[in-house]
Amino acid sequence: MGELTARQSGPLRGRVRVPGDKSISHRALLLGSLADGPSRVDGFLPSQDCLATLSCVQALGIPVDVHGEASLTVHGAGLHGLKPPQRSLDCARSGTTMRLLAGILAGQAFGSVLSGDEQLLRRPMERIAGPLRQMRANIETTGGHGPLTIRGRRLRGYDHSLLVASAQVKSALLLAGLYADGPTTVRQPGPARDHTERMLSAMGADLHVSGLTVSLYGPSSLAPILLTVPGDISSASFLLVAAMLVPGSAVTIVDVGVNPTRTGLLDVLRYMGADIALADERKQGNEPVANVTVRTSELRGVEVGGEAVVRMIDELPALAVAATQASGKTVVRDAAELRVKETDRIATTVAGLRALGAQIEALPDGFVVEGPTPLRGARVESHGDHRLAMALAVAGLIADGETEIQDAQCIGDSFPGFVALMHTIGALYD
Ligand code: S3P
Repeated sequence: MGELTARQSGPLRGRVRVPGDKSISHRALLLGSLADGPSRVDGFLPSQDCLATLSCVQALGIPVDVHGEASLTVHGAGLHGLKPPQRSLDCARSGTTMRLLAGILAGQAFGSVLSGDEQLLRRPMERIAGPLRQMRANIETTGGHGPLTIRGRRLRGYDHSLLVASAQVKSALLLAGLYADGPTTVRQPGPARDHTERMLSAMGADLHVSGLTVSLYGPSSLAPILLTVPGDISSASFLLVAAMLVPGSAVTIVDVGVNPTRTGLLDVLRYMGADIALADERKQGNEPVANVTVRTSELRGVEVGGEAVVRMIDELPALAVAATQASGKTVVRDAAELRVKETDRIATTVAGLRALGAQIEALPDGFVVEGPTPLRGARVESHGDHRLAMALAVAGLIADGETEIQDAQCIGDSFPGFVALMHTIGALYD
């Protein structure tokens, strides 16, 4: 799929399941590798990013049995069971793979190099390397970016105060903390997703959370897990926004993760007037899940900043699409982190939606959208950014004429089967 064409679509209807959560799938592989024995993971996300983590753990000597597409057994070899890799580890385009693995590899008794696609090698890595060095890690970036060269050694615990609310940075430090003498503390400026903490606790780690502060006392072992990964709310968000905007729609997404560190979009859309209902809320392992139903809704503009932005950082391109149809002004601030995602998502979202006729302006740390504006089909660029490609594909469902999204194959980085699933609810894509 090089190019994806979207057409104005009729009502979207159905009851569907989205693929497994990307963040949790990465962590299941990484933490499962360090457990004492086999962990079973069902609902694993077989996306390009998670497959990069899979091949890295295999290159570190961990056998992984793949049962069908979405089930794995990870044969954990214990905290000290990884083997030196034969060559540099390829993280493809996955920031989570590179940053979390760096934390683990910093504490090994061998050296390693983490590399990846040129898109990944443009992303900032001092944000993990700097704090890891405070723990005595020997890690070199390449001008602040990857490739990373790591000479593993025994680490020491450290009390970190993070400058950005980043789950990847927090997780890298906690994973390094597994190999540290003394406690490792991470103080966060905002509520970044907490899947690492939840999984480490489920595996028996001595971890304490108090508000935005997390402390870990390096354990001697981690217990294997039996995990069913919830559906990814970040993937679900594209279906939610599509159903909200296409007239006459009603879509239910079952078994979606609704961890409160991830549900900022649901809260903000509700505030904008969206008809969203959660049913059958329950715990699946250590993570909350629910069935989420959304119906076409009249939206009004909203101002978003602060912690809501942290809780919906990956959903802001989808919010921008919704805002084009909301009455009045939507202002997003405190989202400068978007500038260092797979692309500069402030610049690329603004350019893509403007090409479709939206009134959207960039701010240094966000954007302003004036709505409602009718959208018209055009040829638009994904810039190799999966979330931008899907946001534009959703906009294409309400735009007049055809919307052609270039380089749409990147959608597989997080949401393999996006087009097929959207077809089942009535989206016109080819
Ligand atoms: C992720 C954390 C977030 C998010 C990314 C996945 C994770 O990045 O944007 O898609 O799995 O920890 P940051 O930690 O850079 O905020």
